[in-house]
Amino acid sequence: MKILVTGGAGYIGSHLCVALAEAGFQPVVLDDFSNSRPAVIDRLAAIIGAPTPVAIGDISDAAFLDRVFAEHEFAAVMHLAGVKSVAESCRLPLLYYQNNIGGTLSLCAAMQRAGIRRLLFSSSATVYGAAARSPVREDAPLSAANPYGRSKLMIERLLADLVAAEAAHLPVWRVAALRYFNPVGAHPSGLLGEDPLGTPNNLVPYIADVALGRRPHLNVYGNTYATRDGTGIRDYIHVMDLAEGHVAALRYLLRANDGGYFVWNLGTGRGSTVLEVVAAFVRSSGRSVPCVMAPMRPGDVAESCAHVGRAQAELGWRARRDLDEMMADVWRWRSANADGMR
Ligand code: WQD
Repeated sequence: MKILVTGGAGYIGSHLCVALAEAGFQPVVLDDFSNSRPAVIDRLAAIIGAPTPVAIGDISDAAFLDRVFAEHEFAAVMHLAGVKSVAESCRLPLLYYQNNIGGTLSLCAAMQRAGIRRLLFSSSATVYGAAARSPVREDAPLSAANPYGRSKLMIERLLADLVAAEAAHLPVWRVAALRYFNPVGAHPSGLLGEDPLGTPNNLVPYIADVALGRRPHLNVYGNTYATRDGTGIRDYIHVMDLAEGHVAALRYLLRANDGGYFVWNLGTGRGSTVLEVVAAFVRSSGRSVPCVMAPMRPGDVAESCAHVGRAQAELGWRARRDLDEMMADVWRWRSANADGMR
């Protein structure tokens, strides 16, 4: 069974292709390489042991999408293509709404034309907003404090509307919104990993830069939160666990033909503070990571962790890899690819 993975050359998308192949599916990558590198495709071939078909183009190009859907018979689409920096979204809101929402609308229209009605959407815990109390359940109130989060929230809503509006059409839509918490880690081969352009916004790639000597220290954004050591708590999930969660959700969509819109958290249900992540990285890499306490970052919350009961009960899936394994895999990837895949 072929599965189209939009954004499939990206950090999460490429790991998703590995998990799909391991589960017996045939991933097909759709990417414009605006935030990823063609070298990923060769790395995928080395890990999977067979070439992964790639469609290079813009998801907003309807004619391009029609060609892709004419060339392949897809069982489902996994939609990860999009832009995802909270800070950048505050500077460039139109880019975020055009790219994320416009791209999704273009994809859904092409899927309608092709008669493909099973879709998994890469959503984010950011839709829970700052008021959420951890562990956050899927039925918690939704809100978003920035254009990136609002784009994810609007896409979830438009997908639910689409499912409801076409409930009487055959084939019906079966759509899953997967709310990622904090994906980190890398494939254990060391061939794939997070490869951000420029200065990393996120904690773990920044720590890796410090460990490599690329940056003098880590700024710890706030150490007076009401947490066990004063630093922020997040639910870090290994990217391979996240990918396997997608495969479990895919199997759920494929095993029935009645329509529906489904939401699952993809997290571990366990939180780690910034200092605990640093300690795990030091343990796993043997490198030092000097830290400097810095002011809280605007928009940050003290704690954000997933309630994971629904995915476990309905998908039979739960994250298995612990923080030390996440950090060991990051270090193997970064120490072997100091300059990423450039
Ligand atoms: C984690 C913790 C920081 C950097 C973001 C997006 C979210 C999702 C995941 C897309 C926090 C602290 C960080 C640093 C630090 N992305 N930190 N020094 O903010 O939880 O989530 O990425 O879906 O939408 O908001 O992740 O890695 O930026 O921060 O102390 O240099 O590390 O304060 O407590 P975040 P993060």
